[in-house]
Amino acid sequence: MTSVENRARLVLGNWKMHGNLAENAALLTELRAADAASHCEIGICVPFPYLAQAASALTGSSVSWGAQDVSAHEKGAYTGEVSGAMLKEFGCRWALAGHSERRVLHGETDEAVAAKAQAALAAGLTPVVCVGESLADREAGNTLAVIERQLKPVLALGADAVSRMVLAYEPVWAIGTGRTASPEQAQEVHGAIRAALRALGAAQVQVLYGGSVKAANASSLFAMTDIDGALVGGASLVADEFLRIAAI
Ligand code: 13P
Repeated sequence: MTSVENRARLVLGNWKMHGNLAENAALLTELRAADAASHCEIGICVPFPYLAQAASALTGSSVSWGAQDVSAHEKGAYTGEVSGAMLKEFGCRWALAGHSERRVLHGETDEAVAAKAQAALAAGLTPVVCVGESLADREAGNTLAVIERQLKPVLALGADAVSRMVLAYEPVWAIGTGRTASPEQAQEVHGAIRAALRALGAAQVQVLYGGSVKAANASSLFAMTDIDGALVGGASLVADEFLRIAAI
């Protein structure tokens, strides 16, 4: 399935801090078994300790895997950090950068997120750079200004770098709340992101939507011109639901 401008659809799962070896094994087996039936590219972003498990379960399938964060640093005295090169050793394709839970709970700045995206690229990973406004931002009419501010240091990395990224718009008020942005609300922001990408010469970058995406609401979101797929949290923990989203 492709969008109007022929960008391939991408559906990524973000397990967040969920899972254990036994539950993961069952979920990974179901993802692997269904792999051939999916209409689009599928990937999952799992907690660091489970990367080896994901690699061993998914190697040889078309389902890709990655991490939920990456250090901005190449190596050194950074206790608790995980470098892009380490992720690459475990076969990662993706590294999320700037998920709102990291921005809000761990104080990641827009500049720090851009540095993480750059480090991921340098290690041969595809960064999935997340942006999104809070409810207060939206109610104050600041949505597009916030997205523009968050993207600024990322876009400053230049067309060549940005062309190798994926972006994700995840309104904070729609994450884990069951309250999805309407397709029109999402499209308004995706359209603005696309315009910024086009101005940079990187219009082909996939822009995913995230925030309470489920099989029941995904098709109306995917029908929007500038929505190229989804970044799925809770629903990615249920194989059947996740695969139904990917099958749209
Ligand atoms: P939910 O799908 O659980 O709302 O999470 C969205 C998200 O944050 C994905 O990164």
